[in-house]
Amino acid sequence: MENLISLVNKLQRACTALGDHGEESALPTLWDSLPSIAVVGGQSSGKSSVLESVVGKDFLPRGSGIVTRRPLVLQLHRIDGDREYAEFMHVPRKRFTDFAMVRKEIADETDRQTGHGKGISSVPIHLSIFSPYVVNLTLIDLPGLTKVAVEGQPESIVQEIENMVRSFIEKPNCIILAVSPANQDLATSDAIKISREVDPKGERTFGVLTKIDLMDKGTDAVDILEGRSYRLQFPWIGVVNRSQQDINKSVDMIAARRRERDYFSNTPEYKHLAHRMGSEHLAKSLSKHLESVIKSRIPGLQSLITKTVAELETELTRLGKPIANDAGGKLYTIMEICRMFDGIYKEHLDGVRPGGEKI
Ligand code: GDP
Ligand code: NA
Ligand code: MG
Repeated sequence: MENLISLVNKLQRACTALGDHGEESALPTLWDSLPSIAVVGGQSSGKSSVLESVVGKDFLPRGSGIVTRRPLVLQLHRIDGDREYAEFMHVPRKRFTDFAMVRKEIADETDRQTGHGKGISSVPIHLSIFSPYVVNLTLIDLPGLTKVAVEGQPESIVQEIENMVRSFIEKPNCIILAVSPANQDLATSDAIKISREVDPKGERTFGVLTKIDLMDKGTDAVDILEGRSYRLQFPWIGVVNRSQQDINKSVDMIAARRRERDYFSNTPEYKHLAHRMGSEHLAKSLSKHLESVIKSRIPGLQSLITKTVAELETELTRLGKPIANDAGGKLYTIMEICRMFDGIYKEHLDGVRPGGEKI
């Protein structure tokens, strides 16, 4: 199954690389049919921190105020060996091995599109991370929902952000990571409000509760974590991310994860829930869920892929072989991946409902 997620990941990457390749092609449809995971929530609720913990690496700009101002499409690719590196779609052929430089490039590329300041843009930044320590996932970090425009922002920004977020999460193939801070009333959670709108039954929403360590003394999050406050199909997952002070003091990810584990297992209120709390558990749950989603959609994906391969073959013939230009090379790559998918799909036929779920 690991292979299948990795192939879907590669397909997504190849589709993105070919993004501007003809609207009439089946490729955009294929891209939209592949599952992805989007992180939504209010500003400073901890979305970027959650993403970083899931990845297990420091690489995102974080902080108070509106830091994430463009969607970030983050693909995690598990590789063998001990190398770890990142690549941006907009910086071809450059491997980033210093993750502080990855963070800088995200900030710089955000500014290039939006100008300095507080503007937003719906044009995504595409980042791939290759590492032996990640699970194969595609995650999308989105700007935080706000209630009021701040100094220097147009009034329309509140609605613009909401529309942008909705355009990602309304797709039925989008798994929603709804991030709510535990130190605010859940009834006011922007994440819950918007995810309920697009997924009323909570069938593709994972509730993530951040900042449990910042709750008022004498209060706890047990009712939420046990699903009594707001019910979702999937159990709520609580996390303790690094505080701003930790970030300023450069507390590393390994130390942060250890502290998070200790927090849940040593706090009397949460002890009985500790096995299903924390960032590592979240990463594993997401990966497992993604597997089952892909599996259930295989038949639909399969016919779309067959159609895409047929189209790509026509396109290749039109371009003429041997393929000399870049576009031809990319088409060839995507076709190879489709064929691999085809092979693996056949191995996994067992266990898929006849007819499967339609995509
Ligand atoms: P985003 O705007 O939703 O992406 O939020 P960020 O991830 O940038 O986090 C906003 C601020 O909250 C940062 O200063 C984080 O250090 C802090 N923060 C996030 N999660 C937690 C948490 O679980 N505990 C504590 N103490 N601070 C957190
Ligand atoms: Na923020
Ligand atoms: Mg952010």
